[in-house]
Amino acid sequence: MQVAIDGPASAGKSTVAKLIANKLDFVYIDTGAMYRACTVIARNNHLDYGDEDAIIKAIDKDGIELKSENGEQKVYSAGKDISLEIRTPEISANVSQVSALPKIRKKMVALQRKMSGQVDVIMDGRDIGTTVLPNAEVKIFLVASARSRAERRMKDFKQRGIESTQTVEQIEKDIAERDYKDSHRKISPLRRAEDAIEIDTTNMSIDQVVERILAEIEKNKKK
Ligand code: DC
Repeated sequence: MQVAIDGPASAGKSTVAKLIANKLDFVYIDTGAMYRACTVIARNNHLDYGDEDAIIKAIDKDGIELKSENGEQKVYSAGKDISLEIRTPEISANVSQVSALPKIRKKMVALQRKMSGQVDVIMDGRDIGTTVLPNAEVKIFLVASARSRAERRMKDFKQRGIESTQTVEQIEKDIAERDYKDSHRKISPLRRAEDAIEIDTTNMSIDQVVERILAEIEKNKKK
């Protein structure tokens, strides 16, 4: 079975996707982490964030690997754990530019489809229901207000042990900017698939969102 979870930044996609994956023993794939890894590779190789050919070469050289360690998804590149590095404000500020590059998207989408292969998968991102897995049995589109998403991201930083140099207001502004860029780019913009179920999580607990999605998956299994 394929479950696609899309939506804007910090709408709770990865938190609920991870919980559902653990509960149902599905493979979880965080596609945002892959575009973030591309951005780290560009930075560490001192490349221009718009130079797609050079970034592709560097990705081929350094590689991107997603590994599950003690129930946590870790990201490796060039033999190094970059799981914390991909979440820094510098990378967050530049990932929209890198993820809008056509050759980068083509490469990542091919990799994502390969990873989803023959296993039960829950994948989160922006274009999973529309482009990566258009035949997914369950498609969810999560939304929440920009303010509540900024507050969640702040909490997330703390839990990951990252000291935030930004205020909630600055994070909110960054999130709104990224939403705009992600939904206005030419290729695979952030958009709800016509057959996706939209859930507004602003006033919902994580457990409530998980229960709601599990109910959709259950309904689908009975079909
Ligand atoms: O979900 P996230 O914030 O970690 O995603 C980081 C960026 O990657 C986001 O700004 C948009 C981009 N992205 C994308 O273009 N397509 C995806 N499937 C996932 C993320």
